[in-house]
Amino acid sequence: MFYKILDEMFSDIKEYKDIKKGKGIRGKLITIINPSAQKLAAIVEAIHLASLLHDDVIDNANIRRGAISINAKYGEHIAVMLGDIIYSKAFFELTKFPSEIASLISNAVYLLSKGELEDVKLSKSINLDKQKYMKMIYKKTASLIEAACGASAISRDFPAENFKTYGKNIGLAFQIVDDLLDIIQDEKTLGKPSMHDFYEGKVTLPYIYLFQRTKENEKNELKKLYKKKLGKNDKEFILKLMQKYNVIEDTFNEAKELIKQAKEAIKDFEIKELEEIADKIVKRTF
Ligand code: FPP
Ligand code: MG
Repeated sequence: MFYKILDEMFSDIKEYKDIKKGKGIRGKLITIINPSAQKLAAIVEAIHLASLLHDDVIDNANIRRGAISINAKYGEHIAVMLGDIIYSKAFFELTKFPSEIASLISNAVYLLSKGELEDVKLSKSINLDKQKYMKMIYKKTASLIEAACGASAISRDFPAENFKTYGKNIGLAFQIVDDLLDIIQDEKTLGKPSMHDFYEGKVTLPYIYLFQRTKENEKNELKKLYKKKLGKNDKEFILKLMQKYNVIEDTFNEAKELIKQAKEAIKDFEIKELEEIADKIVKRTF
């Protein structure tokens, strides 16, 4: 239902039709918490779409959700402007909501933009500070999911804090798993070369752990591979090291712990679908 509202919002924009739809997780969360919050779900999905259009320009990504990205198809200028149009329209619609909801969502967009900026800055050199990484992914990914769940809860007179905690923790887990899959998933499923993050300069949680645990000579080898196009042997070398130092398992367990906390925050409400979505995040393969 919210996808229909979303499509109608941008029916006059020709290129909009070429944007591939994702899983709609934010919209789903909102409408599970409050089935009548379809418009809010469409707005949050629109904001998310706009942010991905900009993100693909920033990341120079040619593929999004298994299809050619808008920047690859129409060029960066169109992609940026399309993002601006979608984002602005979403905000225009958001002004019609109670101020508590509008400010929660708009503040999350401020945070996610700052998170993206931090991501860009952290990618300039090897970052080994886990706190910086966690703060960045909180802003970039978790803040909008946190706000989406909180806003939907407010619209139904549920206590916002419980649902915000749920959203924040599944958002953090989602990004950690996303960063892990970039390393362990095959290229076909990923729709891009594996270990692309490291090539782009992104030192995600598994790499942070790896740098913390490796011996000096291993560290030096890893540093040589940073931002380089990785061959089959390089990738195998990194994977072997990750196995040797239990990095994949520890990262995965960290995501699982966040999922546990997320479910704990909303357990009194007994909303099975929210628990299932949380579980799926640590089970997904793409
Ligand atoms: C994906 O990260 C990116 C985000 C979750 C947020 C991007 C936010 C912006 C570009 C700010 C947009 C601002 C406005 C006002 C719309 P990723 O690159 O780690 O994930 P990916 O693998 O899906 O590309
Ligand atoms: Mg990206």
